[in-house]
Amino acid sequence: MSMINTERISSGIEGIDVLLQGGMIKNSVNSIVGSSGTGKTTFALAYLYQGLLNGDHTLYLSFEETPSKLIGEAEALGIDIRGLTNDSEDLIHLVESEKIVEFMTNILPALAQKLKHRNVKHTRIVLDPLTPILWEFPSEKEQRKVLTKIYQHLSSLGTVLQTIEEPNAFGQTDIGATETRVPIYLSDSVVHIQNLGLGGKYNRTCKIIKSRKTPHHEGIYPLNFVNGPGIAIDTSSVETVAMDTVVYDIRYQELMKKVKDLSKDKDPKKRIIAQIAKNLLGEREKKDTIQNMELVEVLTDKQILQEVKK
Ligand SMILES: Nc1ncnc2c1ncn2[C@@H]1O[C@H](COP(=O)(O)OP(=O)(O)OP(=O)(O)O)[C@@H](O)[C@H]1O
Ligand SMILES: [Mg+2]
Repeated sequence: MSMINTERISSGIEGIDVLLQGGMIKNSVNSIVGSSGTGKTTFALAYLYQGLLNGDHTLYLSFEETPSKLIGEAEALGIDIRGLTNDSEDLIHLVESEKIVEFMTNILPALAQKLKHRNVKHTRIVLDPLTPILWEFPSEKEQRKVLTKIYQHLSSLGTVLQTIEEPNAFGQTDIGATETRVPIYLSDSVVHIQNLGLGGKYNRTCKIIKSRKTPHHEGIYPLNFVNGPGIAIDTSSVETVAMDTVVYDIRYQELMKKVKDLSKDKDPKKRIIAQIAKNLLGEREKKDTIQNMELVEVLTDKQILQEVKK
């Protein structure tokens, strides 16, 4: 996608803004990829909420859920959509995926015209989930053609956030999967959210897969649902200055070696466990200012992920 500028807008999720160096680029196309129940809609509602707080115009194109259901879901998060805008009727549209082209050509221009008259500073557009649109155009060639047009149109109106269902489960970074390849390729930024089910801090996680024009933070970060609007990403590991200590604890060294070996494993699931174990060990290292401490004497954190999978 070509972008007009590099001005940034807040995603509505503080941790994501930290990882994306301040937020999403205006008029870009951004994707949240995750399997069922990972928090994609919650994410999209937090994005919408931020827009309403900022006085942005917001447009939520839902391909599955009705506006009243989404308004109810937002309310459960403490987002009073009707109270925040006079335009709640215009805000959420249930679009049938087979009518997407008709919507784009007949209905959207009228909505865009309305925006022009209102002289809004910025518009946020949500597509949730994009997946039924992908089914409408099964060939990648078609998907690429149609989505390019859709994104060109939408990103000229505002900053787009779309959610994409990930077909595979644990450990897969589906950048190459046929089901998600085209929209991921065409996106300016991609955030991957997962429910790993490991328990503890890394039960749910978030990772930036790509972000054009932004040197983003690598790594896997804990994701939590929070009271109030949405999701919190724990980016404390980004903010902590890494200490250059030499750790003499033999057990720690053993586990770090296991982490190193596991991070080269063919199995993506094992590589994720290695990454998380490394984070957990790293956190202990930072907490201990005294060298030679028994850093892993008391293991927990699910016994450092079952001693880095033995
Ligand atoms: N505050 C919360 N505390 C714990 N779990 C929560 C909270 N909010 C949401 N969840 C869990 O997250 C799940 C999914 O939220 P959400 O609808 O945002 O995910 P999704 O990825 O859009 O799912 P789907 O694939 O069904 O569209 C909820 O069904 C619920 O299990
Ligand atoms: Mg959803």
